[in-house]
Amino acid sequence: MLIIANSLSIHIKNALEQAFPEAASKAHESGSTLDPQLVPASKPEFGDFQVNGALQLAKPLKTSPRSIALAIIEQLQKNKEFLSLCKSPEIAGPGFINLTLKEECLQAEISKQLEDERLGVQSLKSSSTHKERSTVVIDFSSPNIAKEMHVGHLRSTIIGDSIARVLEFRGHKVLRLNHVGDWGTQFGMLIAHLKTVAPEALITADAVELGDLVKFYRQAKQRFDEDIIFQQTSREEVIKLQNGNSKSLKAWKLICDQSRKEFEQIYNRLDIHLEERGESFYNPYLKKVIDDLKDSNLLIVDDGAKCVFLEDITGKDGEALPMIVQKQDGGFNYATTDLAAIRYRFSAIPNGDGAGRVIYVTDAGQANHFAGVFQIAKRAKWIPNEGCLEHVPFGLVQGENGKKLKTRSGETVRLRDLLDEAVDRAETDLRLRLKQEGRIESEAFIKHVANTVGIAAVKYADLSQNRITNYQFSFNKMLALQGNTAPYLLYALVRIAGIARKGGNLQTTIASLKFNEPQEWSLIRELLKFDKVIDEVEEELLPNRLCTYLFELSQIFNRFYDQVPVLKAVEPSRSSRLALCRLTADTLKLGMNLLGIPTLERM
Ligand code: ARG
Repeated sequence: MLIIANSLSIHIKNALEQAFPEAASKAHESGSTLDPQLVPASKPEFGDFQVNGALQLAKPLKTSPRSIALAIIEQLQKNKEFLSLCKSPEIAGPGFINLTLKEECLQAEISKQLEDERLGVQSLKSSSTHKERSTVVIDFSSPNIAKEMHVGHLRSTIIGDSIARVLEFRGHKVLRLNHVGDWGTQFGMLIAHLKTVAPEALITADAVELGDLVKFYRQAKQRFDEDIIFQQTSREEVIKLQNGNSKSLKAWKLICDQSRKEFEQIYNRLDIHLEERGESFYNPYLKKVIDDLKDSNLLIVDDGAKCVFLEDITGKDGEALPMIVQKQDGGFNYATTDLAAIRYRFSAIPNGDGAGRVIYVTDAGQANHFAGVFQIAKRAKWIPNEGCLEHVPFGLVQGENGKKLKTRSGETVRLRDLLDEAVDRAETDLRLRLKQEGRIESEAFIKHVANTVGIAAVKYADLSQNRITNYQFSFNKMLALQGNTAPYLLYALVRIAGIARKGGNLQTTIASLKFNEPQEWSLIRELLKFDKVIDEVEEELLPNRLCTYLFELSQIFNRFYDQVPVLKAVEPSRSSRLALCRLTADTLKLGMNLLGIPTLERM
């Protein structure tokens, strides 16, 4: 796995990176080509950064890397800006250059960060061109009507929301789209089946519950697989619906409403907001997709079905794989809808979304589907020059046994039940802890804390994993107060809020901060990494990077707080340390907010 370590504030890193080719070219004529390869130091005793670039110059310059490093350092000693940032550089090993930032520099940086409500993270709004800020569509969550949301949708919902939050915070215009599965063959089956078993569901609201619908859906599917006549009726129902038959549309709408209510409840509990724009939205655009593909000479009729043969994507037999866009019976499918959606999303407003970037958050199992659809969209020239399409895949949620997550009776776990259980367990843990600590709290407090911790734990457990890998769902692990968990982060925040309750004014501002303990400097160094971390999450769309950072920050804070007196310290140390506590709390709160994780003052 590639691990990109964090580094200190972006602009310091940039300034240092610039100083090297300059110094190298003064030392050696061809040195201006030097790529400093500045990386964070591997151990604190090596300082803040290590520069590896001198090694590369050894061959072309035919001298030892050590003497090259020495000559570069000599030049750096004459660079005023460099000297204002770094202590005297040191050579290590065959010719690495170790850099340690000056305390004055760290102090100046942390003072700036203390005053910046964005905590050092630049906003694109003020700086960049229109193009860089064009709309980003994030297609996430996207459950299917008449089926219950399952854990896969939970992952998509949580990961998609956190990516959206990070991009929004950076100043991008984000369109959060819920590409709900609300169209297609399943409705034909369902309507045909309901006609015989529960006709009232097709004409009256609330006649059946989602649970029943799910059951009916399963029955319908079984009938469809076994009964040729039922298959025919189902197909006829789809055609009726797709042709806009008013009775069919009404039935369809009732079924959708019922599912939607259930989805809404989940979204509310998770505090997630997104715009529903289901597959049905693209129905009017499907025919145009086929026409466009035909005009671009991409369409081939194969065995009665219209398809596009993919380039460089082959099946087991080594032959080019076709992607069907219109079935023999004239019906369209999942892929056609996705093609119409891409075309719409990249089209200029008002005939489309005017997007510059479209991101899909789904399970890794759909990677081939998206590779195919993206390729066709490119070949059909629906993507503007700078336009970018990305599939953000994630792995499976497994049970603690490493197998697919199932209930005891072997069914897929309902999301609602999963969240309920997390909250229930959080409540049990809390009541036990209160008892042990001899604390008495109101029922309202207990319910609120249990709910917050339960939801936070589920979200964090998901986000803190590298999304690409499968992960094992464990209530015990995610609710533990120790380890890389939501309760551990929440607890760090609660400790800081406790300092304020004990009389420490976290909002004090002092003219000159004063730091002298190593624990203070490590906390400062960690706090200064925040902007870089957000940058990386934006770049790689990996929220787990932010989780790791927040976890490390909490650990470093806890060490600082356990080892260095804050409230009992004398001035100016007391106020300086309180300032670090406040910045830690602000960073944790903002970071958790960008992950969509709720926070607490007491727990
Ligand atoms: N409804 C699909 C599913 O449950 C996910 C849709 C993802 N988005 C898309 N544009 N295909 O698997």
